[in-house]
Amino acid sequence: MQHNKLKLSKRLMLIANLVDKNSKIIDVGCDHALLDIYLIKNGIIKKAIASDINVGALNQALKNVKLYNVKDIDLRLSDGLDSLTKDDKVDLITISGLGDKKIIDILENNKSKLKDIKTIIVQSNTSPWKIRLYLSNLGYMIKDEVQVEEKGIIYTIIKFILKEKKYSKKEIFFGPILLKKKDDTFNKNLKNMVDKNNDILKKIPKRMFLKRIKLKLFNIKIKKEMNI
Ligand SMILES: C[S@@+](CC[C@H](N)C(=O)[O-])C[C@H]1O[C@@H](n2cnc3c(N)ncnc32)[C@H](O)[C@@H]1O
Repeated sequence: MQHNKLKLSKRLMLIANLVDKNSKIIDVGCDHALLDIYLIKNGIIKKAIASDINVGALNQALKNVKLYNVKDIDLRLSDGLDSLTKDDKVDLITISGLGDKKIIDILENNKSKLKDIKTIIVQSNTSPWKIRLYLSNLGYMIKDEVQVEEKGIIYTIIKFILKEKKYSKKEIFFGPILLKKKDDTFNKNLKNMVDKNNDILKKIPKRMFLKRIKLKLFNIKIKKEMNI
């Protein structure tokens, strides 16, 4: 029998740390299914649905499931939450490594199924604030938020639970929990945003003053939140 030790990337490890013990999960866009394999192998959950829209990804997932000798992973070829039924009794969704628009489309396309979902863990590759806005409007509150830098990219991982809570625009944009922590990764992420805006400003002609002012004001707002 093979004994393969599975080591997750820092990003996937942080997602795994946010998964509640014994929850029944669906990992949407599982790709390699390493997250699900890790969760089961480490006794955090007993079963998982690992789904992906791509046959190649699911084949790789199947190889990994065999390699790590894990049972209790239900591999499904599915567009988003299409394959999910009430009988699956899923109470936690993870979606990571996709863009904000795709994530919101996936949730919106099967919005009625979300009423049974207590927890949603999201790592969007773009505009995490759009996910905060979308899910808080659907009645989810932000239970936890973490950021991690991997290969020069800063990822934001957000755990939502089904509970009403109102957020200010500032909290939606920066993240209510990240704002309280204001750690080094948070500051670095904001600095990257300011640098990016400054690069854009260099390319915008002086005559487009309204666009320039908007960007400059945006930078002032970001700098206000940085611990500098
Ligand atoms: C970059 S990978 C992320 C894999 C893994 N979740 C992670 O965070 O490392 C994105 C995966 O999402 C899948 N995907 C894209 N659109 C999807 C959809 N509508 N429904 C299910 N899976 C989708 C892709 O096929 C791909 O395997």
